[in-house]
Amino acid sequence: MKTALLIALTIFASQLAYAGGDRAAGASKSKPCAACHGADFNTPISADIPRLAGQHADYLVRALSDYKSGTRKNPVMAGQAAALSAQDIQDIAAYVYSLSGDLKVIRLHRLVH
Ligand code: HEC
Repeated sequence: MKTALLIALTIFASQLAYAGGDRAAGASKSKPCAACHGADFNTPISADIPRLAGQHADYLVRALSDYKSGTRKNPVMAGQAAALSAQDIQDIAAYVYSLSGDLKVIRLHRLVH
């Protein structure tokens, strides 16, 4: 029980850390991404491109930061992430996370928002 509470609080706290992302700014900054991931981020143009709508912001920040730094290697996404600033990444993550899609993610923290 205490563990469950601790996990819930940790998830809540980690989401607060991304409150810095601006959804409206993210909506406009993510326009070029729609060419592959789909305008709704739920309808990618091919099966090898992931659905992103509703993905956790912290996951998106991590993925984009890792493409940018080269820690995660993919030539297509490295090119996409190269031009993004840390703030761009936060904004895009906040926007994409706010979208609904077919991706199944645990949204425990929504209980406290
Ligand atoms: C030319 C097509 C293309 C464009 C444009 C594009 N992506 Fe991608 N994206 C991909 C592909 C292909 C992958 C899978 C790469 C891999 O296997 O790591 C991917 C993966 C990702 C992932 C990792 C998803 C996961 O589940 O780990 C994120 C996040 C992402 N893209 C965000 C973006 C954002 C944000 C933009 C715009 C700045 C963007 N993409 C533009 C093709 C594209």
